[in-house]
Amino acid sequence: MAHTCRWGILATGASPLLELFPQGPGSPARTPEAPRFAPPRTGWISTKFVLDLLADPSTRDVSDVRHEVVAVGSRSRESAAKFVESVWKEAGVTEGQDKVKTHGSYDELFADANVDCIYVGSPHSHHYAHVHAALSAGKNVLCEKSLVVNAAQADALIQLARAKDLFLMEAVWTRFQPYSYKLQEVVRSGVIGQVKAVQAELCADFTSQSDEHRLRNPYLAGGALLDLGLALVLLPPSEASSEPLPVPKVAASVLKTTTGVDESVIAGLTFKQSDGRLVHGSLTTAQDRQTAPNRCSYIQGTQGYIEVAFPTYRPRAFTYYGWDQPEDFSAHASGDSSKKPTRTETFEFDERPGGIWGFAWEADEVARCLRDAKKESERMPLRESLLMMQVFDEIRRQGEFVFPEELETLELQ
Ligand SMILES: NC(=O)c1ccc[n+]([C@@H]2O[C@H](COP(=O)([O-])OP(=O)(O)OC[C@H]3O[C@@H](n4cnc5c(N)ncnc54)[C@H](OP(=O)(O)O)[C@@H]3O)[C@@H](O)[C@H]2O)c1
Repeated sequence: MAHTCRWGILATGASPLLELFPQGPGSPARTPEAPRFAPPRTGWISTKFVLDLLADPSTRDVSDVRHEVVAVGSRSRESAAKFVESVWKEAGVTEGQDKVKTHGSYDELFADANVDCIYVGSPHSHHYAHVHAALSAGKNVLCEKSLVVNAAQADALIQLARAKDLFLMEAVWTRFQPYSYKLQEVVRSGVIGQVKAVQAELCADFTSQSDEHRLRNPYLAGGALLDLGLALVLLPPSEASSEPLPVPKVAASVLKTTTGVDESVIAGLTFKQSDGRLVHGSLTTAQDRQTAPNRCSYIQGTQGYIEVAFPTYRPRAFTYYGWDQPEDFSAHASGDSSKKPTRTETFEFDERPGGIWGFAWEADEVARCLRDAKKESERMPLRESLLMMQVFDEIRRQGEFVFPEELETLELQ
């Protein structure tokens, strides 16, 4: 029989923009004539995540686990109720809607005995406090990326989850998409030889967002890095993401927005492999421009390469090109058209199987882990979340970019 995971959802989208806007030093001034670009809209990710939970797992060929949303928590009960009404309507589902408990505070949600796992969909600025409170209340947690704001906070949450013997995972959804497993299989098969470098890019033009928006607001831990910077970890085949590794060397350049968060980051990373080899990575992420739709991320090997189609968070396809002899690959790259790849194949992926956005795959992983009493996912282990935060810390250090003190602290406000 399929194992059922009973979810409690944190964050629904109650907050009007004015409430979101914190009054702190350095906050951009709000004046009546200040331009308002973005309509107040929040709870984006929670909506999509719940839509996926409501989809029938059999439409994505999953039969061993299923999901039930048993509770929704918001800072306002009214918003929680509105969320349930609108999301269930959008999903075209009526069954079970009346059984969803709506909580008017996150603490109420954490205390709900029916909930197996809390999904945290609040802004990065609040992940540390929200995950800490959920774990302290004895709940398993799936937390949106980025897990927290810095490595010290990541480490503290990992220690807390272990001390409480609870499950914790960062919601890196791309890791669980069918594309990701296939890519890993192809890299491990050796068709491109030994991996030498991974180039990843994820840029999205958010310049039309207002300064108060979580993407630009330092008090909501805005900036490109925490929002989009996981691009490199999204490419699992590199050995860099499957072995426990030391923190890579980082050489980074950071440009900032007028609100003081990172607008554009280009970073070179050097990963030391367990056999001593060095693998290079490059990470480009920005919120002031768009990655072109035909732009690919690359995995370069000694005997070929792999092109992963944009968008990096949910690639539609990838193609590998492999040569038997490295010299033939070099000759081909230098223009010798007679040296065709010995092997090449393109894999395409259904973007929305069964209508899901793609978040259901990570939810299935959580359900399986809970069923099997695992406290951590082997596919998105906590050491990788910690490693990413360590890399981000170093990028921010080199870019002279700190978040407001109250966000960087381990103290709970
Ligand atoms: N995996 C992906 O592709 C993906 C895509 C988008 C976003 N995300 C991640 O999801 C998280 C949320 O992103 P989002 O775009 O959904 O954010 P959002 O639209 O701004 O919604 C955030 C929600 O957090 C709650 N919240 C709690 N404290 C808050 C505060 N002080 N200020 C503002 N909101 C507060 C609010 O819910 P209530 O009012 O109900 O309490 C609000 O609706 C981020 O970590 C982001 O990186 C991931």
